[in-house]
Amino acid sequence: MEPIVQITTSEAETTCLGTRIGSCLKAGDVVLLTGDLGAGKTHFTGGIARSMGISDYITSPTFTVVNEYEGGSLPLIHFDIYRLGSYDELFEIGFEDYLERGGVCVIEWADLIPEIEEQAARIFKVDIRRMDDVSPTQREITIVLPEGERL
Ligand SMILES: Nc1ncnc2c1ncn2[C@@H]1O[C@H](COP(=O)(O)OP(=O)(O)OP(=O)(O)O)[C@@H](O)[C@H]1O
Ligand SMILES: [Mg+2]
Repeated sequence: MEPIVQITTSEAETTCLGTRIGSCLKAGDVVLLTGDLGAGKTHFTGGIARSMGISDYITSPTFTVVNEYEGGSLPLIHFDIYRLGSYDELFEIGFEDYLERGGVCVIEWADLIPEIEEQAARIFKVDIRRMDDVSPTQREITIVLPEGERL
């Protein structure tokens, strides 16, 4: 699939793009989020949550690694693997069980553990880059949808 490239110029626009991806997601899907520190991965995840009817304020589970949100149209399982060193560590916290829970898994810093891709059935890739040379609030967001999916 051809990547889709979108520019956002505010936190709200990035959240809004998250809601658009969120509305494509089905049980078992995985969203791999990559990009710079402070790029907007967590706000994008907030948009996904909103599209599922989850009203919690989403924060990065940097220290806890994983947060679960119930009460939406699907369970949302939000990972931040910044502090993990290997796939084994992710496995230890039950990653493969989470994948089978019938929810959506969103993984910040997914590129740090490439083995993740082999485990997921349907993958959405979202890469968010800061464009500080243009503006402190501009971001370039590159999205690769799974085969057959449209935005
Ligand atoms: N266009 C934009 N899109 C998203 N966030 C923006 C944008 N412009 C400014 N921001 C700000 O950038 C920050 C993004 O924070 P966020 O926690 O979502 O990033 P992150 O990629 O999850 O960070 P981390 O790498 O620490 O997990 C917020 O403070 C937000 O207000
Ligand atoms: Mg984050």
